[in-house]
Amino acid sequence: LFRACRPRTRREKEPPLVKGWPFLGVILEYGKNPLGFLQAAQKKYGDIFTCQLAGKYFTFVTDPFSFSSVMRQGKNLDFHKFAMGFSQRVFGHADFTSPLLSESYREVHSLFRQTLQGPPLEQLSETMLANLQSVIQHGQPSKNVWKEEGLQCFTTRIMFEAGFVTLFGKNSGLLQPEGKGVIGTCVQKAKRDFLAFDGAFPALAAGVPIALCGRAWRAREALAKGLLHRELNHRMYVSDLIQRRMDAFDRMHLDETNKARTHVCMLWASQANTLPAAFWSLYYMLRHPEAFAAARKEIDQIFTKLPNDKAISVSKEKLESMIVLESIIREALRLSSASIMIRVASDDFILTLDSGQTAAIRKGDYIALYPRLIHLDPEIYPDPLVFKYNRFLDEEGQRRNQFYKNGRQLKHYLVPFGSGASECPGRFFAINEIKQFLMLVLWHYDLQLSEHRNTLSPDRTRAGLGILPPSQDVLLRYKTRADRYTE
Ligand code: HEM
Repeated sequence: LFRACRPRTRREKEPPLVKGWPFLGVILEYGKNPLGFLQAAQKKYGDIFTCQLAGKYFTFVTDPFSFSSVMRQGKNLDFHKFAMGFSQRVFGHADFTSPLLSESYREVHSLFRQTLQGPPLEQLSETMLANLQSVIQHGQPSKNVWKEEGLQCFTTRIMFEAGFVTLFGKNSGLLQPEGKGVIGTCVQKAKRDFLAFDGAFPALAAGVPIALCGRAWRAREALAKGLLHRELNHRMYVSDLIQRRMDAFDRMHLDETNKARTHVCMLWASQANTLPAAFWSLYYMLRHPEAFAAARKEIDQIFTKLPNDKAISVSKEKLESMIVLESIIREALRLSSASIMIRVASDDFILTLDSGQTAAIRKGDYIALYPRLIHLDPEIYPDPLVFKYNRFLDEEGQRRNQFYKNGRQLKHYLVPFGSGASECPGRFFAINEIKQFLMLVLWHYDLQLSEHRNTLSPDRTRAGLGILPPSQDVLLRYKTRADRYTE
């Protein structure tokens, strides 16, 4: 603590140092409005500067062309050390960086790619689609009756339940009769516990010990109890990802609680960003009639003449062809993503930026990239705060992947899933499941947002933690679509 409180002086060749108050540094200004703070610092200090945030030193690299320069520093900049320390503190699982476990954990880590990407992704997405339909069918309003529900409640209800069952399987004892869906009381309880735990995430991320957040602690432990191997062993259709993680953890001889807590961590990773991303995608689509019309046209062209009771199945090619929905999702991610990419300097070293500028980095300091600076940069995205459903489509209506700053094409122009060592392994699944969700609600329902508030603001207390949720819910009215069946 004494070392942390001792004021630091900038050494030769180090980036400009933004010190602020003793010990606190600039944490208060940063915490109030991270984007505004970083934009102002970028203007004042340029592409790289170091800020003292509550006793720790973070060097921010703000130039998008220099993202690759940071990613290339795998030897000097460690991702896992920071991420694992954070995860261990919040989820309470074992230290997988310890010499005893680190080798076996590498195997566990490699399962992400093996089960969430490539051919296994198709099976996972197929299961997700079937589960989404089950949940939607279960909550179907009676014919010609408008149902009202908060949009966030609606999205969370459908996406959490379907996503949970897709990864962790169905509780065989609680299966509902055919046609009644997969909803069991345990999924409802898991949803409540997940939301209670997730609600405390900003405090936990800021360093508040979970023991002081009683409700979140109880919720986390309840989730872990439901994900003990002896419980999971009774579930049907557990995903390959979870089954293979269970097998690997069993071989590692961890205690049962530790194994279960790693599953809570996986549950959080699979839901915490997906739920708000699905919310914003649907919200923006409903707020913008031209987006709604284009999306519905895309869906109706794909599913013509579908009999009333038939479950929809969608090939990988069809899912990929939904580029209007994809553009809506990417635009929603651009506007709502506020994740921060953090690496720890494992040694003193010199970082060379894209411009050729060099900066001395100290061992133990954090290097931070904040993609929201790119996502809201008016040079890259004109009118950056405006939702444009076709921003990621070109003039021919095809996927647009070329974005420029100062006349130069950017590699990193949309980074909601991180990049390099910390790139999200579930990114393809996430886009697929949100597409499926939008597709099904467009196909099944007429939907209206009944409150006409102009702008719904994101909850800034979660800046740095991923996709920002809305600061409040909005009321949704929906009813079964009357014009759907064209037989
Ligand atoms: C990591 C974003 C959905 C699994 C990450 C990271 C980001 C991210 C930014 C890196 C975190 C860091 O730097 O510490 C998102 C977004 C999603 C999403 C925006 C939805 C819109 C998913 C889904 C899954 C998933 C659906 C799994 C089914 C993971 C895992 C990691 C991760 C396992 C940790 C990877 C590692 O330790 O190397 N995600 N994610 N994510 N995500 Fe996602």
